[in-house]
Amino acid sequence: MGGKTKKLAINTGGGDAPGLNAVIRAVVVSALNKGWECVGIRDGYNGLLNPEEYPDGGLVPLTRSRVRGITHLGGTILGTTNKGNPTKYPTKGPDGKMYEKDRSDELVGLFRQNGIDALVALGGDGSLGIANVLAEKGLRAIGVPKTIDNDLDRTVITFGFDTAVSFATDCIDRLHSTADAHCRVMVVEVMGRYAGWIALNSGVSGNADAILIPEIPYDIEKLAAALRERPKRGKHYAIVVVAEGARPVDGGVSVVSKELGRAEKLGGAGERVAKALGPLVEKECRTVVLGHLLRGGTPTTFDRLISLRFGAAAVRALEEGRSGVMVALDPPTVRYVPLKEATNRMKTVPLDCDTIKTARDLGISFGD
Ligand code: F6P
Repeated sequence: MGGKTKKLAINTGGGDAPGLNAVIRAVVVSALNKGWECVGIRDGYNGLLNPEEYPDGGLVPLTRSRVRGITHLGGTILGTTNKGNPTKYPTKGPDGKMYEKDRSDELVGLFRQNGIDALVALGGDGSLGIANVLAEKGLRAIGVPKTIDNDLDRTVITFGFDTAVSFATDCIDRLHSTADAHCRVMVVEVMGRYAGWIALNSGVSGNADAILIPEIPYDIEKLAAALRERPKRGKHYAIVVVAEGARPVDGGVSVVSKELGRAEKLGGAGERVAKALGPLVEKECRTVVLGHLLRGGTPTTFDRLISLRFGAAAVRALEEGRSGVMVALDPPTVRYVPLKEATNRMKTVPLDCDTIKTARDLGISFGD
């Protein structure tokens, strides 16, 4: 290849998801093979915005040896953050109070100053929305859809989701025997934000008796009535899977906190259901919150493969001169969709989807 070597930067933003390291490896190895130089930005964009905070200057040279043997590792070798949105960067004002500052122009300038020609951003709706802003300001940017929540539009699946669902299903499997032994109702809360994908897929796969998802507000009396039918069929225990974003017909989602510069923290949906359900079913109701366990561990084979495919496709997109697009799975192939379209709206569970129909056919209650 003649001329100046092109340099790409990779960043990982928002909550981590199994498969991030596999994408990083695929991007680096295929880019190096095509004559690019690669660097990684530490902790979202913080490595670029606040280089003084890092002994290595906030940018990590990504060589073959740096990415060797990382495909199966959870987490991200670059670090990530959900507090570093450059368009709403938490900044201390002269009065000592914190406010949100738009640092996106400064960030685009920092890419240029560091000789970086393109960005491959691995993220969910928030991080890819930021990548879209940077692309609109002239930076060449390609997005890779990451999130255990599977709530990104225009792609059939995001990497990390399969690992989260597989682990949740395994946990639900384990809860059947202890729930049975004690004739209890076990309420299992899973992550997923305002979308019910993890709850639905793990609940159906794990033979739950009820699944509560944000897309179908639940009526606790109807849920209790459905569970009271179980003993008549000889089943004296129940498993209820609750998405963290599930809400009653007459209430809102359970929010733990809302901090400056980050999305609201959800939590407590499972406990709320367990407390209300106990007196109505006259059984002990116990809550298990799977939480961050869903984000840890080694990616499943599906997630590894799709991560490697997404990473390699991101570099092909750059080689084809694309920008402002997200790599998306459109089985059997991988294609490119505008970042703007992918981040415009959240992909929630369609109420007429086959998995919901399957659940209903199998007698699983949605509390409606
Ligand atoms: O978006 C991924 C996710 O794991 C959500 O399912 C969850 O609500 C959120 O991140 C938790 O984020 P944090 O680790 O910052 O609390």
